[in-house]
Amino acid sequence: MKVTIVGAGAVGASCADYIASKNFASEVVILDIKEGVAEGKAMDLMQCASLNGFDTRIIGSTNDYSKTANSDIAVITSGIPRKPGMTREELIGINAGIVKSVAASLLEHSPEVILIVVSNPMDTMTYLVHKTTGLPKNRIIGMGGALDSARFKYRLAEALGAPISDVDGMVIGGHSDTGMVPLTRHATRNSIKVSEFLSEDRMQQVAEDTKVGGATLTKLLGTSAWYAPGAAVSGLVQAIACDQKKIFPCSTLLEGEYGLNDLCIGVPVVLGRKGIERIVAIELNEAEKAKMQESAAGVSKTNGLLDV
Ligand code: LAC
Repeated sequence: MKVTIVGAGAVGASCADYIASKNFASEVVILDIKEGVAEGKAMDLMQCASLNGFDTRIIGSTNDYSKTANSDIAVITSGIPRKPGMTREELIGINAGIVKSVAASLLEHSPEVILIVVSNPMDTMTYLVHKTTGLPKNRIIGMGGALDSARFKYRLAEALGAPISDVDGMVIGGHSDTGMVPLTRHATRNSIKVSEFLSEDRMQQVAEDTKVGGATLTKLLGTSAWYAPGAAVSGLVQAIACDQKKIFPCSTLLEGEYGLNDLCIGVPVVLGRKGIERIVAIELNEAEKAKMQESAAGVSKTNGLLDV
């Protein structure tokens, strides 16, 4: 199992760290355009191998795509992250050109690769990869919902005063401050609906805190977060590499599912060796459907700024 990560920034490097630490991949290649950065981070991570007990080989390269040849999975984190006060949508001008050329270069050397898109605005970048590569939809996966759901569970556990392992919940919709749809009605604490424990107001607060999860961190850190994004990507990579058939909300091309068409947006999918093996249609009530429609309208508006 060979995994390539394009972008040796904080998200790319933490993703490589988590993948290597779980020891399921034989090789991880990290690429960056900044001279020496990918090589340096790869070497630093390799020096963790004896300490953290992994055998994954991590190789860094300054933009030499021949090193990525025959990758099974590639993660695109390249582009600029947002700064405090910026929305993810504002990054489109710079990131669209980068993501398009990175996807093309990856496919040149790994025609069978499964692509995971992380660069923001993520749903639109995922759609761009569809439009420009023409790959089957199972091989293009946008990472947002796995991260947003982790943030939702963190906030739920905080509100419940419960351990996170007791909590389950999912965020669907667009990966943006206004587009996320935390499914509070479906969230559970050890199979009991959280509404048994939390007031409607408290659940609303949890949903609002979840939606601005990334922005809250950007304000604190001065740049976009990386530990949870890296961990979320590594979860998707492992589900594919190990053919786990796990369900994650991911951004995928919808063709009528959830009443939506011609956009990529977060919905629950089954991830296995073929990538997205199935889109899971869940029953939404009228309020949830309306939120999903509104979220989709936002994503489509951003897609409209693309030159495709
Ligand atoms: C975040 C970025 C990765 O939500 O979009 O932290």
